[in-house]
Amino acid sequence: MNRNPIIPFVLIMVMGIGLMFLLSFKGLGDAKDLAKEKEGGGKTEETAEVNPEEFYQQTCAGCHGNQYEGVSGPSLKGVGSKYSKDEIKDILTNGKGNMPPGMAAGKEEQMAEWIVKELK
Ligand code: HEC
Repeated sequence: MNRNPIIPFVLIMVMGIGLMFLLSFKGLGDAKDLAKEKEGGGKTEETAEVNPEEFYQQTCAGCHGNQYEGVSGPSLKGVGSKYSKDEIKDILTNGKGNMPPGMAAGKEEQMAEWIVKELK
């Protein structure tokens, strides 16, 4: 046996160093993601992670009822068949009659899509 007994240790060391580099690069990537989330914080939450049902209950149910049955605003049952997605988006953006404009600020697209699907 003329193999140097140090070699396995050296190999393990090299692997360890490699792993350190790998993890620190991954860490950098994560840090960037975190920074991005912080910067656009409000925005990403508003546009990406909205639950339309929840948003409806918070924002729209006061006038349209939590079963869509209508309160001061009209019932929204069947509104998904009455209007196209674009028309609903328009109502959300610009208001309609006594409905104030901008009720779904930034979420018009998602809300309209959900209404067309859920409130046939
Ligand atoms: C301040 C009360 C109020 C709030 C809050 C409100 N609406 Fe309305 N909405 C109305 C009224 C009143 C009308 C009827 C307007 C008209 O036709 O003159 C209406 C009409 C609508 C219509 C058209 C219904 C139809 O049959 O013509 C849709 C769709 C609608 N609202 C969706 C929503 C959504 C989605 C939200 C929440 C993002 C919301 N509204 C929040 C009062 C409200």
